[in-house]
Amino acid sequence: MTHSSTAQVQDQPVLNRLDFGADFEWGVATAAYQIEGAHDTGDKGASIWDIFTNKRGKVKQNHHGKIACDFFNRYPDDLMLMQEMAIPNFRFSLSWSRLMPAGTGKVSQQGIDYYNRLIDYSLELGITPWVTLYHWDLPHELEKKGGWPNRDIVNWFSEYAALCATTFGDRVNHWMVLNEPMVFTGAGYFLGVHAPGRRCFGSFIPAVHHTALCQAQGGRILKSILPHAEVGTTISCSHVEPLRQREKDIKAAQRVDALLNRLFLESALGLGYPLDDLKFMRRIEKYMKPDDEALLQFDFDFIGIQNYTREVVKHSFWTPFLQANLVPAKKRDVPYTLMNWEVYPEGIYHLLHKYSKYKNIKKLIITENGAAFADELKDGQVNDQQRVEFLKRYLQQVLRAKQEGANVQGYFVWSFLDNFEWAEGYNPRFGLVHVDYETQQRTIKDSGLWYRDFLTNKFKV
Ligand code: BGC
Repeated sequence: MTHSSTAQVQDQPVLNRLDFGADFEWGVATAAYQIEGAHDTGDKGASIWDIFTNKRGKVKQNHHGKIACDFFNRYPDDLMLMQEMAIPNFRFSLSWSRLMPAGTGKVSQQGIDYYNRLIDYSLELGITPWVTLYHWDLPHELEKKGGWPNRDIVNWFSEYAALCATTFGDRVNHWMVLNEPMVFTGAGYFLGVHAPGRRCFGSFIPAVHHTALCQAQGGRILKSILPHAEVGTTISCSHVEPLRQREKDIKAAQRVDALLNRLFLESALGLGYPLDDLKFMRRIEKYMKPDDEALLQFDFDFIGIQNYTREVVKHSFWTPFLQANLVPAKKRDVPYTLMNWEVYPEGIYHLLHKYSKYKNIKKLIITENGAAFADELKDGQVNDQQRVEFLKRYLQQVLRAKQEGANVQGYFVWSFLDNFEWAEGYNPRFGLVHVDYETQQRTIKDSGLWYRDFLTNKFKV
């Protein structure tokens, strides 16, 4: 945070885990490409991130995930660290191209063995696995066949989802189909800043539709094979406000809200795409087949909400399609993180209430929340007080919303370890645990120690 809001921090009441309820799920979150490394171990196939990071200039300092945190090899020690930190739930994703090198057809026994070991050891240590099927690392072979804009992806994804459910479902009871579909379709196919780096509205629109179909289809497959499992999916979301209370900014904020917060959710809830607020997306109807409206829908057991910041929006005649611009935190004289994202804890409170109003949402789990700061390792310690304050203040707002009736039943910190932060490379550190990428040495940051004390209920009053 560049500004510190000391006054608010000092007024905070002590956080007590038990106030959230005994059943509230606590955990940490990660993703395969961001931590595993071992990019070509055994018969693993390349993913679109392996290919994207090989191209110069796509990622800051040309960083890549070839080694990352070497979690693939170091998971036993990392899980022991997690246990030491009293973390009961571990969210991670499966690498599709590790399990099916070409994305379809041949299955990798080595890939299966690795995830079996990871799941078994987690359970042995008393840590519950929460598995995401897809966290952005599409097998490159499938991108060569058209990737998400090709409707065949519904079949490829179905095959993959069925493999995961039948292979790991005897031990994994918590599943998430997709991680933040708006981010990977938007950044990957429209803005071109994430893999596969396409910048094309004509690819983005079908990618959105096929992703939304896979979201529901993945849910149906998991549930049909594992009727007793908890099946959810996750969405990125930000509380959105207009810069000024004038008609044009208010309308612009509505469009941004529909795109960021409603598109993938409402289609899953059976409400269709919010095209009244997103007229520029009407072209999506061209890709709809007669049964698609029903196929977009799935009754998820939970919706994972992932929140980092708030967006303030102003009308912009010159911005194609959306005609809206996000006003950067830096220009608004507000605190922000190393990602230039505003620190706005009330945002998560508003979102929890917003989503609690949807009748068809059974429950909400915060599957990601966290912050990147300029952490420094000094004398074997990382004093990241800013992250401690960030987590406390966001959690206060979660509790406030919950006490007012919002149906939120879990919270996962992003992230367990510092890791590969996509187009930003390794500089932004989000972890509760510091990683020295030269030596792969782990150090629990002060925020990690704080989370442990919170989870073991040291602050009980
Ligand atoms: C993603 C993570 C990412 C984090 C911070 C989320 O959008 O799911 O993979 O590292 O936010 O940017």
